[in-house]
Amino acid sequence: MNDLPLWQEVQADLQQVEVELLRQADAPDPVLSQAARHLIQAGGKRLRPAFAILAARCCGAPLERVLPLAVALEMIHMASLVHDDVIDASPLRRGRPTVWTRWGKELSLHTGDYLFARSLLLVATYDDPRIPSILASTSVKMVQGELHQLAGAFDLDVTLRDYLKRIYRKTALLIAASCQLGAIAAGAREELIQHLYLYGRNLGMAFQITDDVLDMVAEPERLGKPIGSDLRQGVITLPAIYALRTCAKKQKLICLLARRDKTTVEIQELIQLIKNCGGIDYALGLAERYLARARQHAVFLPAGAARDTLMGLTYYIRARGI
Ligand code: FPP
Ligand code: MG
Repeated sequence: MNDLPLWQEVQADLQQVEVELLRQADAPDPVLSQAARHLIQAGGKRLRPAFAILAARCCGAPLERVLPLAVALEMIHMASLVHDDVIDASPLRRGRPTVWTRWGKELSLHTGDYLFARSLLLVATYDDPRIPSILASTSVKMVQGELHQLAGAFDLDVTLRDYLKRIYRKTALLIAASCQLGAIAAGAREELIQHLYLYGRNLGMAFQITDDVLDMVAEPERLGKPIGSDLRQGVITLPAIYALRTCAKKQKLICLLARRDKTTVEIQELIQLIKNCGGIDYALGLAERYLARARQHAVFLPAGAARDTLMGLTYYIRARGI
């Protein structure tokens, strides 16, 4: 992320987010503090705080107005990931052992709950009732998205519509809420709040689609976790959904996708088959359509460096998937 020149716009602000995150990790129990610090120090793009800060800046607000919200958003995101790593039994995240690997299931769940609970304290510093309300309904829908994914594991009848609904809930909504809430915290007018929400929603859809593509095509070192994790877990993502519709070797594809304990060779074979059927190109094409929609909303934002960065981020998301 730091290689994105436009990112300098929020670099200093994100350092403050980092300081505040570490302060929030301070728990009465030393093991809990250690686990929370491990999570924070594993890094991450801090996309959600950045979106909230940029949205607020677009609407003319200083960092102080949005900082507690920006930190709360990252903590909710971290809480969801630490729980997700337990659900997925993931050994690595961002190239480092997960809290689940280091401290086990119970402490991972407590760490996630603790971060989520502390985020509520930060949210409680705002008077506007829309802020807790949007964060609460977003969190509810994220859980529904995860449940939907769980129920759909190894279900080869999953439709494009099912997939889009799932990624909207599990990823796009929190990114949309980050943009929307940044504008609300800044006291922006309704029209701007709506454009920022729709910018975030479309960008969030593209972000998850490229994430799903990267799960199949990225270098494992760059990904920070083993390649093909979704396929191993039976999570049928867009490239596979497209391949299931178009593949000339459909029986072979079905057989590999449905297999529970896939070997590394089978995963590689499956990815190659999906690539040959055009699944990766199709997914990247759809991501690009969402990014174009995000740009259509960004043009309505007040001109300035914050808007340029939001616009630039749409190109960054596209470049991730290439
Ligand atoms: C990672 O997706 C997971 C999410 C984006 C959402 C996880 C949500 C929950 C566990 C429920 C909500 C929890 C709270 C605290 C509101 P992924 O598995 O596609 O990505 P990955 O490969 O990085 O794990
Ligand atoms: Mg996961």
